[in-house]
Amino acid sequence: MTDPLTRWREHAGSAVLLDGFHALKHALRFGAEVPVAVTTDRPAALALAEELAGDVRDALDALLVQVPARTYASLVQRPHPTGVAALAVRPSREANLRTLGRAPRTAPVVVLDNPRNLGNAGAVIRLAAGFGATGVVTTGTLDPWHPTVVRGGAGLHFATAVEHLGVDELPAGPLFALDPEGEDIRGTKLPDDAVLAFGSERSGLSAELRTRADHLLALPMRPQVSSYNLATSVAMTLYHWSLTGGASAPARALA
Ligand SMILES: C[S@@+](CC[C@H](N)C(=O)[O-])C[C@H]1O[C@@H](n2cnc3c(N)ncnc32)[C@H](O)[C@@H]1O
Repeated sequence: MTDPLTRWREHAGSAVLLDGFHALKHALRFGAEVPVAVTTDRPAALALAEELAGDVRDALDALLVQVPARTYASLVQRPHPTGVAALAVRPSREANLRTLGRAPRTAPVVVLDNPRNLGNAGAVIRLAAGFGATGVVTTGTLDPWHPTVVRGGAGLHFATAVEHLGVDELPAGPLFALDPEGEDIRGTKLPDDAVLAFGSERSGLSAELRTRADHLLALPMRPQVSSYNLATSVAMTLYHWSLTGGASAPARALA
């Protein structure tokens, strides 16, 4: 078996950095292929696995290689408190497009129309994973697999289909665009095959997306408040779908 540093260098160019124990735990849970994982303290990482991730404890035991703190620090930009880092193979665009295009869809696709903030995008991917959404699509220039987005998503990019598309390539399904000027969302039942679109933090929905939208929906907000944060808007909308849509709530058993 090659040493972990050689394997790290082999994969670093194309793979996704999983920063910390929880990102690695989530990625393994949702089927990520992880060619290399390192830790500065293997007994501590396995104790954490024992406590929080019994389902992937054996996989972690087989994967985690202890490296000196200096080596670990040379592999990551910001050392994580758990002293764990790993590389995962990024799912192919083809696989994501198949998932996003599958019909009938049993849960919505979230679209972020030209988002600007990497932390917001990560938070939205975590929300989409939690609600069992089919996927998260971004339009515009932000890479939804940027390391900062992956860090914000806590390894949950592997639990939902995350892809970048043009507005003209969005998956089929009724397009509900969220905008403070829309109809009150409380009067609408969101179907499971909905495409739920949210505008950019700076300028809201693009003209292109607005034109394609079948419905414009507003989240309740008192007068004089201009708008909510992007990720909190997605949270409220997915929660509304979970209450009114046909899907059953996702099971919540694991840490
Ligand atoms: C920070 S807001 C954008 C604010 C932007 N300055 C504008 O002109 O719309 C980001 C996105 O969150 C969603 N959003 C925020 N508040 C909302 C509300 N009250 N109702 C519906 N959507 C909302 C919209 O999709 C919006 O484009």
